[in-house]
Amino acid sequence: MSKKIYIETYGCQMNFSDSEIVASVMTSHDAKVTDAPENADVILLNTCSIRDNAERRVVNRLRALQHLRKRRPGLLIGVLGCMAERLKEDLLEEKTLGLRVDLVAGPDAYRQLPELMADAETGQKAINVMLSADETYADISPVRYTPGGVSAFISIMRGCENFCAYCVVPFTRGKERSRDPRSILAEARRLLADGFREVTLLGQNVNSYRWKEDDSGKVTGFSELLGEVASVDPRLRIRFATSHPKDMSDELLHQMARHPNICKAIHLPLQSGSSEVLKRMNRKYTREDYLERIAAIKRILPGCGLSTDIIAGFCGETEEEFGETMDVMDQAGFDFAFMFKYSERPGTLAAKKYADDVPEAVKTRRLTSIIDKQQALSLESNRSDIGKTMEVLTEGRSKRSDRMMMGRTSHNKVVVFPDQGFKPGDYVQVKITACSAATLKGEAVKSH
Ligand code: 5AD
Ligand code: SF4
Repeated sequence: MSKKIYIETYGCQMNFSDSEIVASVMTSHDAKVTDAPENADVILLNTCSIRDNAERRVVNRLRALQHLRKRRPGLLIGVLGCMAERLKEDLLEEKTLGLRVDLVAGPDAYRQLPELMADAETGQKAINVMLSADETYADISPVRYTPGGVSAFISIMRGCENFCAYCVVPFTRGKERSRDPRSILAEARRLLADGFREVTLLGQNVNSYRWKEDDSGKVTGFSELLGEVASVDPRLRIRFATSHPKDMSDELLHQMARHPNICKAIHLPLQSGSSEVLKRMNRKYTREDYLERIAAIKRILPGCGLSTDIIAGFCGETEEEFGETMDVMDQAGFDFAFMFKYSERPGTLAAKKYADDVPEAVKTRRLTSIIDKQQALSLESNRSDIGKTMEVLTEGRSKRSDRMMMGRTSHNKVVVFPDQGFKPGDYVQVKITACSAATLKGEAVKSH
């Protein structure tokens, strides 16, 4: 009888994309994916280590799942992803977390999951946390969460070698490697044929995507790849994440301008608006460099959607340095931001070199100010869209009301509009009539 596998995913889009690889590996080994943990023979948590609270959530969840062992003797509980890579063997020791884990697999070990499961069943240690220099899972066809969905991820590279001082990712996801562009294009074509209308190309730093053909020596960089994926079909929208400000070229911006189906939205993590803090963070750009990149975006792609990541209270951050972050937020006028308190991660450059010396209360106060500012900026940006007509790709029904549909603009803004018989995947022209800081509201004017 085939085994039932339940997979739960934490963290970034890359992790969600990896879980689709895990589902693919398992289903091609006679397993079935279930969405009910209480019915599963194997529970896998694909985990995140980016901040301490991300790890704490996983530990709490692992604890809550232990009671299922009583009901299902033989149940296996496994930890995948970044926490598996960070904590390694320690996860198998009951004393580490005060609970039992049966299987541990890092981000490059998913092909070995069937063997690891067989080992775990016989009571052996089931662990593989080997990082690879070339694994991209290029030949594995991901099992999509939402068959018949509208939007899907395509992971185009893995790993990261930037070593930002605060960040655990280079340690948990290993060396940077790009995936063969032919397999990326084939996946985009397959998604289009399956009815998908939007793909997001994923990588920790997509701007350093680079593929060299062995025979011809032809090099494909990110701009070329983006152009090739955009040329698959004009009905397929293309997004990408994440860009590093130090590597985002004008050439990429011109490529975005050339193709109407490349969404006009850029996620450009700022982290801090102070050159001194950026230096301590090992980000390799200054406040001025960042503002110059924002100016280039506004010049080449007027009206482009802009989002960012900001960290409050990094090591040694003074009141003045914090003020510089607030100032860059105003100058850039972000539409959206992910905002965090700095959380020291063991083994990172910052943990080794600097004291985590901004008091918790100060971090909280600064984060609250950043969130308040972003709320005002988002509202201002949404207000300026009132009266405009925008093309929206319909994703499905609105969560709040059955009579309303929701979708996204090219700029990545969420739009809610009355249903007039629209289906997921339809492109609808919507005139914006109202907004909140989080959502635009409008009415369809015509559809095609
Ligand atoms: N503490 C707080 N935020 C962090 N990020 C990465 N590492 C940390 C950390 N140690 C944030 C950065 C990054 C986003 C994915 O998470 O802003 O861009
Ligand atoms: Fe979390 Fe980073 Fe790992 Fe993604 S790559 S799961 S954000 S630690």
